[in-house]
Amino acid sequence: MDIKAYLKEKKELIDSFLKEYFSSPSTPSILGESITYSLFAGGKRIRPILCLAAYEACDGDSEDILPFASSIELIHTYSLIHDDLPAMDNDDLRRGKPTNHKVFGEGMAILAGDGLLTEAFYMMSNSLSNRNIKNTALIRAIKEIAFVSGIHGMVGGQAQDLIAENSEPDKETLSFIHKHKTGALISGSLRAGAILANCTKPSLSAITRYGENIGLAFQVIDDILDIEGDTAELGKTAGSDERKKKMTYPALYGIEESREKAGELISEAIFAIKDFSGKAEPLREIARYFLERKN
Ligand code: IPE
Ligand code: IPE
Ligand code: MG
Ligand code: MG
Ligand code: MG
Repeated sequence: MDIKAYLKEKKELIDSFLKEYFSSPSTPSILGESITYSLFAGGKRIRPILCLAAYEACDGDSEDILPFASSIELIHTYSLIHDDLPAMDNDDLRRGKPTNHKVFGEGMAILAGDGLLTEAFYMMSNSLSNRNIKNTALIRAIKEIAFVSGIHGMVGGQAQDLIAENSEPDKETLSFIHKHKTGALISGSLRAGAILANCTKPSLSAITRYGENIGLAFQVIDDILDIEGDTAELGKTAGSDERKKKMTYPALYGIEESREKAGELISEAIFAIKDFSGKAEPLREIARYFLERKN
């Protein structure tokens, strides 16, 4: 299969859904501008795409859950806006543009993030009127996303990431940070897709194992790109981790060993879903694509 074409097609579906959703002006208008500035600055839409791909792997027609999957991008975008704030990573460039607070100020950037987070759950709840989704499955999927986004997931990981700045890297802390700040939302997006498709317990376990492995690999590769990547291609300033003395995989294991670890995690992920049909081919190809991504 042509994975580049698959990613492009899904990204376009997600983008046009979000464009339509945010087409009416908000009050005050600057809040809406701040939100749409970051939401439509680019971005791979990988988490919503994984949600759709997991739904398809479990025999669903992904059109059913386009609004649900797209809502995950709101949570991710909020996490990026806050991650870039001076009080966190203090970055000036995101998705190839000045960071949200550089354009709208810190107060509005905080509020845009807050607004995106809350709107995401409102958007998910709107699927209650979707005849193709069972309400019990929807509630379980919402619960999943709430769990992985908050203190038990992304926010917990981001907190540990801040605490660990400037300290000597150690295996356990590093693994905790990466699994929580990044792995959790990636694996939760996949699990939510599988849950919405009412997949079997063994299938959900397999998707979970796939998600945990690609989720960790995604952040290990992000760490490598921060060192080896090119600012223009990344759309964010390379070398940010070194400047902030972040606890990263290359800082503990070096570049080569980190690359090997990422490769092993990707193989493990693909192995986890070996019993799925050809409908899981996009998941297998996305895992392979992670290893060669340049942004
Ligand atoms: C960046 O995520 C933050 C991490 C968790 C590594 P992405 O690499 O998915 O960023 P966008 O959404 O494509 O900009
Ligand atoms: C980000 O980790 C994780 C988030 C939850 C936003 P990073 O701080 O490494 O992400 P980038 O490199 O700024 O995108
Ligand atoms: Mg960070
Ligand atoms: Mg950052
Ligand atoms: Mg990074």
